Amino acid sequence: MALDGIKALTFDTGGTILDWHSGLREAFAAAGARHGVTREWSHLVNEFRRRSLRSIVNLGEHAPPTVNFDDVFGTRNRYGRVEFFAGCYHPTYKAQGLDHLETFDSGLAMQTCKAILDDWTNTGYDPFAAPMETGLAWSGKKVGHNTAAINRARDVCRRMPGLPGDIPLRTDRNRYPVNRAFLDVPQDEPEIHAAPGFEGEVHAFNLFAYLSRSDVTWNPSVSSVCKHSLFCPTTEEYILPVKHANDRVEWFLQLSDQIEWQIEDGVTGLPRAKIVMRPGDVAAMPADIRHQGFARKRAMLLVWENADPNLPWLHAQGTVPRSPAEEFWPESAPQRR
Ligand SMILES: [Fe+2]
Repeated sequence: MALDGIKALTFDTGGTILDWHSGLREAFAAAGARHGVTREWSHLVNEFRRRSLRSIVNLGEHAPPTVNFDDVFGTRNRYGRVEFFAGCYHPTYKAQGLDHLETFDSGLAMQTCKAILDDWTNTGYDPFAAPMETGLAWSGKKVGHNTAAINRARDVCRRMPGLPGDIPLRTDRNRYPVNRAFLDVPQDEPEIHAAPGFEGEVHAFNLFAYLSRSDVTWNPSVSSVCKHSLFCPTTEEYILPVKHANDRVEWFLQLSDQIEWQIEDGVTGLPRAKIVMRPGDVAAMPADIRHQGFARKRAMLLVWENADPNLPWLHAQGTVPRSPAEEFWPESAPQRR
């Protein structure tokens, strides 16, 4: 057979390469034996398979997907390099030796991820918006592109938005209409009464109004850098697309609505907590966890991070403080387990 004209090979995996039936049947039989239960296990396994396929086949075609395997795959920041992994932080994959990890230069990783994103993004779909905002056109046949949304420029501010000579505040006229989820957010700006001689030197703006006009989710609307303090107010909706592996203590202040967080150990992937944050709630997420957020309705969240330039060095030494206690009062912090 001539192989010259072949461009791609595809083959079935479930049942052909992966013998899911025997493994499940034996596991069911062993569990049954422990409890003195006898059944037709093959029949049960087929039924299990039938029902699980019903949950995943055509997933996302008519509604946002409710099941995914994303927690098996992910990335980890290594400051100039990025780790791509599959199964490394998932207890079952790890235990079965199915984990794999490769490290790439950050520039190449960014370029490659953008190319992948561009490859499955259709015209009109914005991968940084909430799925319900631009429809569900990401699944199915590839139709056109939305490269502009993928490469959208970040507004870089010298001091504060709205100051003379700086980037303008967000308005209906400059591509930032109020998001559909924040129509109830007051849009009035603060009153400024500067003393004579200080006109033009005193400035303030309504952060809630600014956030209500954000056109992205799970991305900061503002990254306010002040020495080692990184203040990142952001708007979140639907699902944080990846599990974020913290590399430092991360403070959350819930500004509006509600976000649910699932928190796992950063290395083993074992569950640590689930928290529900409502307006006014504060959490300090430790440096040694991974977490994923869910917001049924678009919510505002203030993320506050340590931007210590020594972090890469601390990581190399394995001495990154795990908790606020270790960060500020290392002598009295609980001992590491
Ligand atoms: Fe995080």
